[in-house]
Amino acid sequence: MKIKYQLWGIFSSLFIVVCLTTYMFILNTYEQRLQAGYEQMSIAQGYTILDQLSATYPDSPNRSIGYLERYGENLNGRLVMLDHEKKVFADSFQQLKPNTTLHLDILDQDFELGSLFTEAESFDYVQYTLIPFQAIEGEGYLLIVQEADQLKAELESYKTWMIQTLLIVVLAFFLIAYFVSFWFSKPIEQIIVQLKKITPHKRTFSFKYPRRDEIKELIDTIQNMVEELNLYDERQQRFLSTSSHELKTPLAAIQLILENLPYVRENEEKHGEFVQDLWYQVKKMKQMVDQLLQINRIGNTHLQKETLNVQDIQNYLLQSFQHIVQDKQIVLEFELEPVNLFVDRTLFLGALDNLVSNAIRYSPQGQLIKIIIKDDKKQNKISICDQGIGISPEHLPHIFEPFYRSNDATAWNREGSGLGLTIVKQMVNMHKGQIDIETEQNKGTCVHVFLPKM
Ligand SMILES: Nc1ncnc2c1ncn2[C@@H]1O[C@H](COP(=O)(O)OP(=O)(O)OP(=O)(O)O)[C@@H](O)[C@H]1O
Ligand SMILES: [Mg+2]
Repeated sequence: MKIKYQLWGIFSSLFIVVCLTTYMFILNTYEQRLQAGYEQMSIAQGYTILDQLSATYPDSPNRSIGYLERYGENLNGRLVMLDHEKKVFADSFQQLKPNTTLHLDILDQDFELGSLFTEAESFDYVQYTLIPFQAIEGEGYLLIVQEADQLKAELESYKTWMIQTLLIVVLAFFLIAYFVSFWFSKPIEQIIVQLKKITPHKRTFSFKYPRRDEIKELIDTIQNMVEELNLYDERQQRFLSTSSHELKTPLAAIQLILENLPYVRENEEKHGEFVQDLWYQVKKMKQMVDQLLQINRIGNTHLQKETLNVQDIQNYLLQSFQHIVQDKQIVLEFELEPVNLFVDRTLFLGALDNLVSNAIRYSPQGQLIKIIIKDDKKQNKISICDQGIGISPEHLPHIFEPFYRSNDATAWNREGSGLGLTIVKQMVNMHKGQIDIETEQNKGTCVHVFLPKM
C-alpha cells in the first residue's frame, strides 16, 4: 500500500480514538454537572418543605400527607416521608401504606443525601432525591420523586450538538491528514519516478528539495552515488581508451620496424639495431599488459592480509634490486623500526617494488636511496626517499593518473609506461591508507605511505 495511504490511515485512526475518548469525557462531565445542578435545586426545595414537615413528624402521618400533597403538586412530583429505618411514613400519592418497605437504589444503606437519575417506564428520566432530617423527637427522610425529562432533553440536544461538531472536526481532520500524508510522501514518489528514469546510458538525478530531513539525506546520497557512478564510468572509459592508445604506440613501432626490416637485411649493423628496437618495443608492451592486468586484478581482489615484519621487507627488496643496484652503483639504506605491517603481501610488495623502481629510475648513478619504516601513532609510515630529478609542481597533481609521465621523466628514462604509481595508489586505497609526496626538482623525492596498523 502506498505510504500516503498508510500515513493517512494511521493519522485518522489515532485521531478517531482521541476524538471518541474526548467526546465521552466531555459528555460525562457535562451530564454530571447538569445532574449536580438539578440535585442542588431539589435539595434546596426539599429543605424548604422539610421546615414545615418536621412539625408533623413523627406524630401524624395523615397531617403529613396533606402537606405532602400540596407541596408535591407545586413540585409536580411525588413526595414520600420515610422513618429512620427508611420505611414509608407518608406518601403524597396516598398509594403507599405506612411501614411499607421500598426497594429503590437510592434507599441503599450508604446513600444519605443526594439525587439518583434513572430511566423509568412511564417517564423518560426520573430524579430521586433523598434528604435526611431531624425532627423534634426523631429522625427520618424525605424522598422526592420528580420527572427529569428537561434534563434528558438538555443532554440529548448537547449530544446532538457534540456529534455534529465531532463529525465536522473528523471530516476536516481526514482532509488535513490526507494533505499532510500526501505532502510527506510526495517527494518519495517523485524520487521513485526520477530513479526509474535512470538507465545505464543516461544517469542523471536532480531533485530540488527544500526541507532538511532524512529525505534530503536520501536525495543527497542518491545524487552522490549517481555522480560517483558517472565518474567511475568516465574513468573506466578514459582508462580503456588511454590503454588502447598507449598499447597502439609500441604496436605501431613494431609494425614500422617489421615493414622496414627487409630493406636493411644487407646492413648488419642497422639490422641488429632494428631487432634490438623490436625487442625493446615488445618488452615495453609486455610490461604494459602485465601492469594493466595487475590494475584490473587489484580492483577485483579481496585483501588477504597477513603480518609482515620489516626484516622480510628488507630481504625482499635487497634480493629484487640486487642487480640494478650494482649496475647503477646505487646505495640502498634502510632505517627500520621493528614494526609489523598487517597487509596483503603480494599487493604491498608489488607497490613497494614500484616505488623503489621509481627512486632508482629517476636518480643519477651512485646516489643514495633511503627506505624508512616507522611507527607513526595509529599507522605505520613507509618512506622511500631519493636524491633524483624530483617532480615539477605542474606534473605533481597528475602523477597518479594512469599512463601519466612527466616530460622530465620521459627525457631522463624512456622506459616506463606511467602505470606504476596508479598501482601504488590502488594498493594504498584498498588498505585505507594515504600517500603523500615531498619533492623538489633536481634535489630528490620522498614518497610517504601511511597504512593503518589493523
Ligand atoms: N621518484 C621519482 N622521482 C621523480 N619523478 C618521479 C618519481 N616517481 C614518479 N615520478 C614521476 O611520476 C610519473 C609516474 O610514475 P609511475 O611510476 O606511475 O610511472 P613510470 O615510472 O613512468 O612508469 P612505470 O612505473 O609504469 O614503469 C613518472 O613518469 C615520473 O614523472
Ligand atoms: Mg614507475
